[in-house]
Amino acid sequence: MALTENELAAIRENPYRADFPLLANDPGLAYLDSAATSQRPRCVLDAALHFYETMNANALRGLYRLSVEATAAEEEARARIAGFIGAADPAEIIFTRNTSESLNLAAHSLGRLLLGPGDEVVISIMEHHSNLIPWQQICAERGAALTYLYLDEDYRIPEDELAKISPRTRIVSVTQVSNVLGVANDIAAIAARAHEVGAVCVVDGAQSVPHTALDVDKLGCDFLAFSGHKMLAPMGIGVLWGKRALLEAMPPFLTGGEMIDSVSEQGAVWAPLPAKFEAGTQDGAGIVALAAAVAYLEDIGMAAVEGREALLARALVDALAALPFIEIVGPAEGGRHIGSVAFNVRDIHPHDVASLLDMHNVCVRAGHHCAEPLLKHLGQSSTCRASVALYNDASDIDRLVEGLEAVWKVFNG
Ligand code: ALA
Repeated sequence: MALTENELAAIRENPYRADFPLLANDPGLAYLDSAATSQRPRCVLDAALHFYETMNANALRGLYRLSVEATAAEEEARARIAGFIGAADPAEIIFTRNTSESLNLAAHSLGRLLLGPGDEVVISIMEHHSNLIPWQQICAERGAALTYLYLDEDYRIPEDELAKISPRTRIVSVTQVSNVLGVANDIAAIAARAHEVGAVCVVDGAQSVPHTALDVDKLGCDFLAFSGHKMLAPMGIGVLWGKRALLEAMPPFLTGGEMIDSVSEQGAVWAPLPAKFEAGTQDGAGIVALAAAVAYLEDIGMAAVEGREALLARALVDALAALPFIEIVGPAEGGRHIGSVAFNVRDIHPHDVASLLDMHNVCVRAGHHCAEPLLKHLGQSSTCRASVALYNDASDIDRLVEGLEAVWKVFNG
């Protein structure tokens, strides 16, 4: 449905752009690649700098004031991030580098705990390679099978596909929102089916946590992986949330400093959660900056973030659908898109489109978006993808349209 006058007026206003130095310094830039990485507001950059300027020391290791303060700041951040996703126990928040590392942790540690020959892991065809290759690897290592849930023509995983989750299934791992199509999966239904057969449910939240109000209890999953850099925080900090009982039963993924209680010549006793999964020096500045990003989002309110981004996605789909030379790859309804819209310009390679758009100061991603099996399933080799965040407004979409019209003219006179 087309946006009403009031809805259009809401996305013509932009109270957020000024908070983001990179965007404020380049008023003509249409940054439409937030699904790849978001921009960061000044308060997040300040939080990282503040850490280095006032409390830079190695957390957990030092007995002096600076180290104690760094430890306290990191633990305060952990509690804030737990609250953001509705997790009651901060020790269930494991810091990693990014979603890929979180999903590698889940795959390798859970795989070693649960998988043997004849067992099965179920994922969907719309997974990013981060939620696909780790499962390929661990299944090959443990003699387990990897099974896919496929999409129907409406870009949904139909209910009858869930019957593939069988008593042989030990782990189900799916994305909440596709990084290519922007469509959401019904995680509650998938988790319920996984639990019915005694399987564990892992969710890739890289494209959902930044954009939706989320509560792990309501979601019903056992693990949730996400990245800071897609939710206004710096690159290099990510999270794996998991249920305590499972985390306690799982072997560690990375081993080394500060993840032990004691070490002997031939063995080690693991530290309690979360340290057991946090080997080596952590990214203290990244952790406090992620908490600052959470605070920024919470101040706005995730319902408001979700509402604004939904309008932007609808406006984006409407604008693309109005161009006769564009094919949208994904649902035609704007309301089905969370953040991302994939599309192609007729007879022009997506790489050419993205490079030419760059000449108009418009950033979109082009390629297979780290989701080759999905693109193959859709009969595409690559697409363009525009993605929005709260700091976008209607003028970014106008610039994209102007850019696409110019690209079309380059090839079609
Ligand atoms: N996962 C990121 C994307 O979809 C990099 O672009």
